[in-house]
Amino acid sequence: MPADSHADRIVMITGAAKGIGAATALAFAREGATLVLADIDTEGLGAVLAGLPGSGHMAVRLDVTAEADWAAAMARVGATHGRLDVLVNNAGWGNLRSIFDTTPDDWRRIIAINLDSVFLGTMAAMPWLEKSGDAAVVNVSSIRARVVGFGSGPYSAAKAGVEMFSKVAAVECAQTGRRVRVNSIHPGFVDTPLSKAQGEEARAARAASVPQGRMAEPEEIAAGILFLASRAASYVNGTGLVVDGAFTAV
Ligand code: NAI
Repeated sequence: MPADSHADRIVMITGAAKGIGAATALAFAREGATLVLADIDTEGLGAVLAGLPGSGHMAVRLDVTAEADWAAAMARVGATHGRLDVLVNNAGWGNLRSIFDTTPDDWRRIIAINLDSVFLGTMAAMPWLEKSGDAAVVNVSSIRARVVGFGSGPYSAAKAGVEMFSKVAAVECAQTGRRVRVNSIHPGFVDTPLSKAQGEEARAARAASVPQGRMAEPEEIAAGILFLASRAASYVNGTGLVVDGAFTAV
């Protein structure tokens, strides 16, 4: 089996009902993986599930900020598959408010969705990831972990936390004999339904700010996630993969 194959791998993705998560689910399924799709949007999950090639996929309603939801979802994964090979902590959300307009509730919500989620998910999944013998966690961070954009205060703080948490988890897994690699991925501007909804002018301005002259397609982020999760990345651990059309290179 080629080192980049995901055939027979059990892969769980949060925020899988649309955008990067949905594109990543489809890419894994095309490689022969069996998917566990998780989101709060059950209607969206149903649509993604119906479009996946292969069989044995499941969808679970999971609020990534809720410890009890994680426990219930992982109990289902354990009962069905007895292991988990890949966890993609992808669900995330931010607003575009200055820190001076950010309320404590905004702050807590954005930190919870983007950062608490990654801790809760990694810990809940760990017993099943350990059973894989060759597992990977990919945490979806952002270029906002590295460079500032207007209105990215709590979001940047959370995404930087995701990057550092990934490193700590990678080191602690390796040093405690757990065969679980942990990496983060840092997308630049991605052309998702959200950016399309912001209008043509805003999209064009974003595209023009990127050296490659365009936003990423969700599939281009999925490709990075599949690489980090694959056996081809067997020595890639505790690092962050930037996929941004050279945005942060200038
Ligand atoms: P999206 O908004 O298209 O999809 C996010 C999904 O997460 C939705 O299906 C939503 O229902 C789900 N979700 C939100 N809160 C949740 C919760 N509490 N529990 C479970 N699911 C929840 O977003 P997109 O663009 O696909 O983003 C995915 C990840 O990529 C996020 O972590 C985001 O921060 C990150 N990212 C996105 C970029 C972009 O330009 N779109 C750039 C850099 C990073």
